[in-house]
This record gives sequence, C-alpha cells and structure tokens, in this order.
Amino acid sequence: MSKPRATITAVGHYVPDKVLSNHDLAKIVDTNDEWIRTRTGISERRILEHGATSDLGAGAMKALLKNRGVSADTVDLIVVATVTPDMFFPSTACLIQEKVQAKHAWGFDVSAACSGFLFALITAAQFIENGSYKRIVVVGADKMSAITDYTDRNTCILFGDAGAAVMLEPGDDPHAGILDHILRCDGSGEKTLHMLGGGSLNPATRDTVDQKMHYIYQDGKSVFKVAVVGMADVSAEIIERNHLTGKDVDWLVPHQANLRIIDATADRMGLDKSKVMININKYGNTTAATIPMCLSEWWQSGQLRKGQTIVLAAFGAGYTWGSVLVRWTVENAA
Ligand code: UT7
Repeated sequence: MSKPRATITAVGHYVPDKVLSNHDLAKIVDTNDEWIRTRTGISERRILEHGATSDLGAGAMKALLKNRGVSADTVDLIVVATVTPDMFFPSTACLIQEKVQAKHAWGFDVSAACSGFLFALITAAQFIENGSYKRIVVVGADKMSAITDYTDRNTCILFGDAGAAVMLEPGDDPHAGILDHILRCDGSGEKTLHMLGGGSLNPATRDTVDQKMHYIYQDGKSVFKVAVVGMADVSAEIIERNHLTGKDVDWLVPHQANLRIIDATADRMGLDKSKVMININKYGNTTAATIPMCLSEWWQSGQLRKGQTIVLAAFGAGYTWGSVLVRWTVENAA
C-alpha cells in the first residue's frame, strides 16, 4: 500500500483590527510614506493591542475549523511556528490548544523565524505521511509589535501582527498535496538578524533592557542581498527538479518581507507578476504568518483554486530558507 500524501484541506487567518499606517509611523520616527512604500512595498500593518501570539493563533485556528466544518476535539496535533511565543514555556501550541479546546491534540512550537511556517508544515507533513495522524493544524503566528523598537526607523516600519493556519490530512492522489520541499539553514547569518536579549546567552537584566536587547536587530542591507539570492535560488530549483517551468506554476506564494525581494524571486522563476501573491502592502512582515495569510486570503477570494500548482518560498533569520511545491487540494470557497 502506498503511503498517504499530506494534503492541505482548509485555511484560515486572523488579523487584529488596529491599523498602523506609514503616516502614523512618520509621526513617531523620522520616516515618510514614500520612502517606506518604494523601499518595501508596505503601506500599513496591523497591531494587536491586547493579548499575545496565542490569541492570533487561536483566532486563526477557529477560522480554520469553521472553514473545514470540524470541531477542535478532532485535531490530533498542533504545530506552531513563531518567534514571539507568549512566553518561553509552556509552548504557544499548548496555549492555543487550551484556547480552542482541542482536547485530544498534543503540540509543540517550531522556531525558524520567517521560514517558520515552511519548517512547521514539512515537519507536520511527516506525521501524516508515516500514518501517525489524520488531522494536524499548522499555525504561523507572530505578534512582532512585542519585539519591535518603535524608536528605530530601520525596523519599526517593517513588521506587523497576524496569525494564519492550515489543516493537513491524508490524501490518496500521489499528484496532489505537498509534492516536494527544499529547506536550508546557515547559522553564519546569526549576526545580521537576531534578538539577543532574554535567552540563556543574555538573560534579561536591567542592562539588557537599557541596551534594547529585547528588540529585533537587523542589518537590512546584508539580509537583503542574501534573501534575494536564497529565495530565488530555491524557488527556481524546486520547479526545475520537478521538470516544471514558470508557465506550469499558477501561484508563487512568497514570504512578505520586501516587495523588491518578491519581484526578484518571480523574475528568477520566469513568472509573471500577476501570478504572485502579494499582500505586504496591507500587513507588512508578519514573520511566520505571511505565507498562510496569503493562502487564506487568495482561497477566500476564489483566486486560489483546487488543482492549481503553487510554490511557497521563504527566507528569514538563521539564516533559514526554503521552498515547497504544492498542488492545491482545498475545496473551492463558496
Ligand atoms: O523577513 C526576514 C528577512 N528580512 C528581509 O528580507 C529584509 C531585508 N532587507 C530589506 O528589506 C531592506 O534592506 C530594508 C527595507 C530593511 C532597508 O532598505 P534599504 O534599501 O536596504 O535601505 P538602507 O538600510 O540601505 O538605508 C538607505 C537609507 C539610509 O540613509 P543614508 O545612509 O543613505 O543616508 C538609511 O538611514 O535610507 C535611510 N533609512 C530610512 N529613511 C527613511 C532607513 N530606514 C529609513 C526609514 N525612513 N524608515
């Protein structure tokens, strides 16, 4: 008997109501709407005023369960990608499990920054393919505003808060579902993108707080160069090794860090811009949530349809990066 294929059977997302526009940011740091839009593609982002990452994740999971028409207690496993867990422990997966009352699920968190959703998705897919579980929820959620320094114009313009989730279930069509993946990491990238304080290297003290070590640090220019090459390379590689060309791909679903990185990736794949999911203008970089957010919004609007071939691609801190080839299996939105 052939092994089951991990297939995505539902999507859902959650964004907080509060909008932080470029114009709002221009009132608190030395920046302007034109600079932010032309350098990044971002116009506004969402901010969670009350609550934590588990609230974003639980909101997304509730939407997902509703879309799939199943109850929380049918879920076997919850895998959460995040760099902004509610706390070091317990895991955000445990907190979401309680909030949605997924009584029969166990769960754990995955840390791979902006590539976190892809790392979590592929980890979860193994449990479907080896026959262990029948229903897994993969959540990408980040409250980036919790680790953003709103006096640093280099970073505060980039990030936003959101949560999104997909459901994985076994399928029997070998040509549908999660077809292939390439995942990479290179720890030499640690110096250019990190949050140094609060961990075992620099436990939180007054001094670490005074030095703002509890906020994101990014050397944007250095990350930009490797992100363009990294994301474009793995996206091109995954279509080539599956004997596809840009013409065979219906959608590129890139991590939303910078519109210029997204454009370079599409060019490298020979893909028309009309086939690229882009919502960075509305949400900024929501780290682990960007890719499932796109999937959920494009499915909801009826543009992402059953049978379509899509490439998910990400690059983030670590460095971590990767691509995943999927034939879409969610029933079309009503
Ligand atoms: O998601 C995880 C992976 N992360 C990424 O992929 C992010 C990769 N990096 C980037 O997206 C870009 O590097 C940024 C958007 C972060 C920055 O864009 P950039 O084109 O690399 O700008 P830069 O940092 O080289 O700054 C250019 C100029 C500088 O001024 P001088 O030195 O030329 O006078 C900055 O001080 O722009 C200035 N600048 C700003 N000006 C207005 C930097 N931030 C701002 C700002 N508003 N917010």
